[in-house]
Amino acid sequence: MNNASYNDHIFPINSLNKADITLIEAAIGALAYAYAPYSNFLVGAAVRLDNGQIVTGANQENASYPLCMCGERVALYAASMNGSKSDIDALAIVARNMSKRIEKPVPPCGACRQVIQEYEMRQSSGIKILLKGESDDVLVFDNISSLLPFSFDFSYLLPS
Ligand code: THU
Repeated sequence: MNNASYNDHIFPINSLNKADITLIEAAIGALAYAYAPYSNFLVGAAVRLDNGQIVTGANQENASYPLCMCGERVALYAASMNGSKSDIDALAIVARNMSKRIEKPVPPCGACRQVIQEYEMRQSSGIKILLKGESDDVLVFDNISSLLPFSFDFSYLLPS
């Protein structure tokens, strides 16, 4: 991302609304449940549903490395199991590197972007994305489109 667009999306945490700050705090709380003995990179995530419920997740690693699951996907899949069938309103993602301080917000990997987009398409509405490292800066996106332009989605699979 170039600097102009980066600056358009960055906000100090104390300028966000209370619900978004609460969601980021839930993602920080989820860091305690990260299982990351191989990377020592902890990712906590929190999903806010339209009914106000918050569902959290954290990365879960495995000795068979390709099986590692990102924190945001753990949260999104858990939220999708919610009985209320509420849409996903927002997703907060935070990260900690055990061997260095991460100043900048950590963007989701490509696989997670694709998964976020699937849920947006499924519910026909955007998911607000809040990203935070260890500084007070939060990167905010109204939906996945600026993080995943020119994307593949299920519309190509449907019969015409
Ligand atoms: N990870 C996430 O949880 N989310 C991302 O978007 C990027 C990477 C995790 C996977 C693995 O457990 C660790 O971070 C290092 O890649």
